[in-house]
Amino acid sequence: MTRNKIMALQGGGGGPLIGGMPTLDALRRLHPDIGSDYTIPQCWGRYAAAEHAIWRTLFERQLKILPGRACQEFLDGLGKLNLVSDQIPDFEELSEQLQALTGWCVVAVPSLVPDDVFFEHLANRRFPAGQFIRKPEQLGYIEEPDVFHDVFGHVPMLAHPVFADYMQAYGKGGQRALAEFGALKNLARLYWYTVEFGLIEQKDGLRIYGSGIVSSSAESVYAVESPSPNRIGFELERVMRTDYRIDDFQESYFVISSFEELFAETYKDFAALYAKLAAGETYKPGDVLPEDSVLTRGTHTYRAGSHTVI
Ligand code: PHE
Ligand code: FE
Repeated sequence: MTRNKIMALQGGGGGPLIGGMPTLDALRRLHPDIGSDYTIPQCWGRYAAAEHAIWRTLFERQLKILPGRACQEFLDGLGKLNLVSDQIPDFEELSEQLQALTGWCVVAVPSLVPDDVFFEHLANRRFPAGQFIRKPEQLGYIEEPDVFHDVFGHVPMLAHPVFADYMQAYGKGGQRALAEFGALKNLARLYWYTVEFGLIEQKDGLRIYGSGIVSSSAESVYAVESPSPNRIGFELERVMRTDYRIDDFQESYFVISSFEELFAETYKDFAALYAKLAAGETYKPGDVLPEDSVLTRGTHTYRAGSHTVI
């Protein structure tokens, strides 16, 4: 397997859509210090040399693949935060740097956290990141978000001021969607097709900003170069009506033209949109609609489940 299959790519927080996470009481047995907000001490000193080595392997692999594929904002974020291959980052040091740039910090959580807890963290500019790192046999494939997906995948974009604001607005929107609208599913799709699997059209061409892509070596190539998936211009309502797969490469990617556009499109009151979304169609992951602005119509030649770029 050559891809992160991450059940809850939303971040260590898990976030929308994921059920079946352990209760706080169950987690307390493994993590006696867990707080009511699900945070735990990172205990950086306790990572073994072999765990730092896994970080290094993954980091070095992505650094070879990402130039010319990831957007400049992501690569700049890695640099600004001094994220390096040597070792798993210490969240305290990382948070200090991030705080100075955009006011965000990174907190450690065991893995998935409930939706309301996830939103509460984002709404307060705290990114919950899985504390553990995957095992050597999970280099390309993992069921839960670990520190590599969460920190390497998500944190560089949080160093970008507009994206940082988008993530906080999303957290607040999540709280509202839960409390007032019962629209979690719609909002989760927005997260999926932007934060996790978003592409952006830049002057040099199509680039990745989604964390689920940048933390996966195979999907980093597939998302940008494979003829198989659809690449469709981002349209808010369309995205919020589109189902997605969590266990295979995406059949469609949605492409924004700038982070400013993404922010402007989403930073408006969703009340009327939620009401509209409650009726009408839901689209399948591979659908192409007559009204779509299609950048690439997929050949759909990817062999499902193979996790291999063709
Ligand atoms: N504008 C959304 C609302 O009214 C909140 C939101 C902002 C959601 C940004 C996602 C991203 O609820
Ligand atoms: Fe994620």
